[in-house]
Amino acid sequence: MSSVRAFVAFLLIGCSAKESASPAAHAPADSGYADVARNVPDADAETIVEITPPAVPGTLAETGLYADFAARTLATGVIPFDVRYPLWSDGSEKSRWLWVPPGKPIDTADMDHWAYPIGTKAWKEFRRDGVLVETRYLEKSGEPPIGWKFVAYVWSADGKSAVATPGGLANALGTPHDVPSQEQCEQCHSGTRDGLIGVNAIQLSSESGKSVLASLSEKGLLSKPPGKEFTVPGAGAVRDALGYLHGNCGYCHSDAGRWAKEREIRLRVRVGDTTPESTAIYLTTINVKMHHGDTKGNPYIAVVPGDPAASHVYDRMIKRDFWAMPPVGSEVVDPTGTALVKAWIASLPK
Ligand code: HEC
Ligand code: HEC
Repeated sequence: MSSVRAFVAFLLIGCSAKESASPAAHAPADSGYADVARNVPDADAETIVEITPPAVPGTLAETGLYADFAARTLATGVIPFDVRYPLWSDGSEKSRWLWVPPGKPIDTADMDHWAYPIGTKAWKEFRRDGVLVETRYLEKSGEPPIGWKFVAYVWSADGKSAVATPGGLANALGTPHDVPSQEQCEQCHSGTRDGLIGVNAIQLSSESGKSVLASLSEKGLLSKPPGKEFTVPGAGAVRDALGYLHGNCGYCHSDAGRWAKEREIRLRVRVGDTTPESTAIYLTTINVKMHHGDTKGNPYIAVVPGDPAASHVYDRMIKRDFWAMPPVGSEVVDPTGTALVKAWIASLPK
C-alpha cells in the first residue's frame, strides 16, 4: 500500500550545467540556438555522488500538518503563510504552512540566505480549477546538500486521504496539473543555501498589515529579528519585474546553492539593495552576454534596454519547450509575469 520509496539523488559537483539536470542543457540541432561558451566550466571535472535521501512518511496524515485530519484542523505551532512574490504554477491556487521546532530559531544571521533548524517542516497545498490535487511536504532531517525529505501527497477524489507519490503524477485527478517527482522537487529546492525557498526576508515582508516576518520575530523563531520590513527597490514596472524575477527565478539563479557556479546570471534581490541599478539582477543582465547564442556564434544578450524581443531573459520566459525558464514546474507561460518583465525591459533607457 505504501508508495514510499527512497530515490537516488545525483549531486553533480563541479560539473557543467550542460551535463546536468537542466533540460535546456544541450542545444538541439534544429533549435536555432547554439552553445556559445563564454565561461563554461570544464565538463571533464564532473563528479557524481549518489546519495539516498531519508524515507518519507507514507501519508499526509503522518506528517503532522493536522491535529484532526478529517476536520483539517491544523496542529499546534503550524503557521500559515503567503509569499509576496509567488511562483507561477499555471494558475493553481496554493496554501502554505510552516512548523519550526520550539526553542530552535531559524538562523537569520545572513538575512539573504536563511538556514533552518533540523526538524523544520513545510507544506504547500495545490488546487487546480477548484480541485484539491496535492499537498507537498518538506522536512529537514540533515544538513545540505541533501538533508531534506521532499515528496508530494496526492489526494483521493473524496478528499479523505493523501498518499505519497514519489514518482509524480501527470494530469492528476482529471486536471491538467502535473504533480512533480522527488527529482523535480530537488532541482528547485537545492538552488538555495538551505531547502526552503519562500521562507525568506523579502518574501515574508509586507507593506501593509502585520507581516509573517514580524510574527515569526515575535514568536522568537528568528535568531536575529530584523526589526523592519524589506522591500524590492524601484517603483512601478521596475519594482514589479524585480520582485517577480526574485520569486520565480532567483532561487536557482542565486549566489548560494546548487546552480550558483553554473551560470553567472543572478535573478535574486538582496535585502541591502537600495536602488534597481545596484541589484545583481541589473549588474548580471543588462547588456550582458549569455552562454547561448545564434547559429552564427553571436551570443545572446540577457537584457537589451528598450528591446524585450532581443532580450534572452524575456525570450526564455515565453518558451515552454527545451529552452523554457523555469526549466521545470510549468506548462503554461505566465501572462502576467511575462508582461511585467516585458514592460520593465521596454522602460529601460536605450
Ligand atoms: C519549479 C520549481 C519548483 C519545484 C519543481 C518544486 N518547488 Fe516547491 N517551491 C518553489 C518555490 C519558488 C516556492 C516558494 C514560492 C511559492 O510558494 O510560491 C516553493 C515552496 C514550497 C514549499 C513551501 C516552503 C518554501 O520552501 O517556501 C513547499 C513545502 C514546497 N515548495 C515543496 C515542494 C515539493 C515537496 C516539491 C516536489 C514534490 C516541490 N516543492 C517542487 C519551487 C518549486
Ligand atoms: C530550477 C532552476 C532554475 C530556475 C527556477 C530558473 N532557471 Fe534559468 N537556468 C537554470 C540552469 C540550470 C541554466 C543553465 C542551462 C541553460 O542555459 O539552459 C539556466 C539558464 C538561464 C539563462 C541563460 C544563462 C546563460 O548565461 O546562458 C537565462 C537567461 C535564464 N536561465 C533565465 C531564467 C529566468 C528568467 C527564470 C525565471 C522565469 C529562470 N531562469 C528560472 C536553472 C533555472
